[in-house]
Amino acid sequence: METFGHFEDASREYVITRPDTPWPWINYMGTEDFFSLISNTAGGYCFCRDAKFRRILRYRYNGVPMDAGGRYYYIKDGDSVWNPGWKPCKTTLDSYECRHGMGYSRIKGCKDGLEADALFFVPIGHRCEVHRIRLTNTGSAPKRIQLYSFAEWCLWNASTDMENFQRNLSTGEVEVEGKVIYHKTEYRERRNHYAFFGVNRPFDGFDTDRETFIGMYNGFEAPQQVLSGKSGNSLAHGWSPIASHRFDIGLEPGASEEFIFVLGYVENPSDKKFVAPGVINKEAALRMMDAFAAPEQVDAAFAALKAFWDGLMGRFTLQSDVPELDRTVNIWNQYQCMITFFFSRSASYFESGIGRGMGFRDSNQDLAGIVHLIPERARQRILDIAATQFPDGGCYHQYQPLTKRGNNDIGGGFNDDPLWLIFGTVAYIRETGDFGILDERVPFDNKPGTEVSLLDHLKISFKHVTDNLGPHGLPLIGRADWNDCLNLNCFSDNPDESFQTTENKSEGSKAESLMIAGLFVAEGRDFAELLERIGDSGAALVREAVANMETAVKKHGWDGEWFLRAYDYYGNKIGSRECEEGKIFIESQGWCTMARIGADEGLCDKALDSACKLLECEHGLVLNTPAYTSYIKDYGEISSYPGGYKENAGIFCHNNPWVIIGEAMAGRADDAWRHYCKITPAFCKDQNLRKVEPYAFCQMVAGKDAAKPGEGKNSWLTGTAAWTWKAVSEAILGIKPQFDGLLIEPCIPARYGNYKIHRRFREAEYDITIRYSGKAGSVFIPYKPGKQELEINL
Ligand code: GLC
Ligand code: GLC
Repeated sequence: METFGHFEDASREYVITRPDTPWPWINYMGTEDFFSLISNTAGGYCFCRDAKFRRILRYRYNGVPMDAGGRYYYIKDGDSVWNPGWKPCKTTLDSYECRHGMGYSRIKGCKDGLEADALFFVPIGHRCEVHRIRLTNTGSAPKRIQLYSFAEWCLWNASTDMENFQRNLSTGEVEVEGKVIYHKTEYRERRNHYAFFGVNRPFDGFDTDRETFIGMYNGFEAPQQVLSGKSGNSLAHGWSPIASHRFDIGLEPGASEEFIFVLGYVENPSDKKFVAPGVINKEAALRMMDAFAAPEQVDAAFAALKAFWDGLMGRFTLQSDVPELDRTVNIWNQYQCMITFFFSRSASYFESGIGRGMGFRDSNQDLAGIVHLIPERARQRILDIAATQFPDGGCYHQYQPLTKRGNNDIGGGFNDDPLWLIFGTVAYIRETGDFGILDERVPFDNKPGTEVSLLDHLKISFKHVTDNLGPHGLPLIGRADWNDCLNLNCFSDNPDESFQTTENKSEGSKAESLMIAGLFVAEGRDFAELLERIGDSGAALVREAVANMETAVKKHGWDGEWFLRAYDYYGNKIGSRECEEGKIFIESQGWCTMARIGADEGLCDKALDSACKLLECEHGLVLNTPAYTSYIKDYGEISSYPGGYKENAGIFCHNNPWVIIGEAMAGRADDAWRHYCKITPAFCKDQNLRKVEPYAFCQMVAGKDAAKPGEGKNSWLTGTAAWTWKAVSEAILGIKPQFDGLLIEPCIPARYGNYKIHRRFREAEYDITIRYSGKAGSVFIPYKPGKQELEINL
């Protein structure tokens, strides 16, 4: 089978060996607030804090060809012009390799006896990308070549940058001084920030005006200055500012030259913006340039970045007999959890960075993947999210990372949202034992003076569900529940309305959700346990509400062989054998079996059997079946998708782990394992079919009804990362953090039952050897600081 690359586990890298991957295979750089997306051909962009409001490089979404724009280096060697990453010139290279590692990418291209080795990373403690470009003459004759850099500036607001040309084409401003090109559009007025692209040695020419550099009728693949071996030394005034440096280089056989480029971002205090009228204060930029002037400085910064990731990836490690499992657990799943934590659903090659910020439910779920890695940052995130809640427990569906203020851009009134705050907080306290977070004072809607304790926020979240019950005593769904596309109060026949922000009719609605019911029972139990731990008398009422919900689910939510999905506005069943399409849905099977509702009466086993029988296909479990074949106004967006895609019978990987965990809780190890392997990219053999990165989970894989079942989309930013982490680390491998220790309770096929785990837990380091025979059982390890070696036979 055709492959485009392979894993290299020792260095925690994925090595891409052909540039023409079926889709750009990308990586992320950055650990604090300066972030970059970089594809295997060096396409992509960077931003500081907020992909919409502080965009530094321009990017063309869904461009032709795909992935247009990035940080490009051009080499002109005689008549040939090429790029180390193949694009944009696409000149055939003698060899090519891209190594995506933890927070860096290294792209190497060779042609005609010249090797160009480009290392890209975002150093810790600085708001910049560092590019180390090393050119080596590997041939036997001296070479005279030219190197050009290229980056195109975005005029900060990535949204208006693509729309408001009557203004934009007149505003662009730059300065060139010393070894640095500065981008200062709008700095003259309200912006206190600028960007720069500098290099550690004097250059032989430059350009900052795109038209001069590229030519009006050329593309990135044929910049006219590069073709002619010159520079225009142009200064951009409006139009499209860019940055390009030129170097004329002589290389003896065997000789190397190294260039360190810094692409950075600076904020200045308003009273220190200028040093002379119109001349920007360059101090901070020059300090950053100085920090990377010499190769040793770059080496040290790169080593510090490696140490950061080594530290994180050392907190939970697995040694098993299954290499695909080890590499997923030890490297790529945890890495992706960090990435989704940083970005929520904002910036990927499927999310433009313009449409969505931090989701309330999304960011809470993401916490489950990183509480064991960066607990301090999880703590802050919880407080930030809680501050976007309203006094009645409802909340903004998303907030913008720059302002941390909630907004209704993608709707509000999703009735599952409040419960996720309990989910995230419980995950955090179980991992850290930090009950103190419950006393933190947090405002409502970020309004000073409205502060209550985080604990009160949780109580209000819980109450939001009991305050909003429908005719069957089940939770009203509101705008939608976890499934954004099940829009039961929307009733839209206007294509210009968004399904998420439209609610045409909700007064008197009977639309109830079994997904929220299951979530309520599962999280309600955790919440009651938390309240008991802190001696809060509210626990009894919580338990009572949970018991009532279980009764309601058993009475009104069971369809005979599986759990119903919902009741619609009129009180009709959704996800029932009585329905012609959408007879069964995954969300309620996942949540009700994780909540163990009716387990004693055999409901969970029956529901799981039905999921295996009806929802499972070659590539995973589809969301619903049969797929809807026409638009149903009563149901909304779900029925707008062609069958097999997204929420209409796609394999929505995010929710597969719910069934995996449900299976494990029911002791069904083979089923749990099979579902897990199907959605985990490291087990997927056909790279051409899957199309997206073989090292990242995707939100959706096309389901059995699609034209091409198995094709992946929406890779990287998805709750799949955190949920598969939870499924594999807790449900399958059995390492379950509790409020006062670790519960070891594996559920893995016995043939893989011998493995070792190193687990950092608060101030303890556990080395656990597990020998699991396949029988149900568990061992509790009370928390005790220090190193411990444990042998567990089950
Ligand atoms: C997307 C959204 C998430 C939602 C899911 C299902 O992944 O980010 O919030 O739950 O779709 O609709
Ligand atoms: C669309 C997508 C869904 C996403 C929602 C919100 O409905 O299908 O996955 O959650 O948009 O952006």
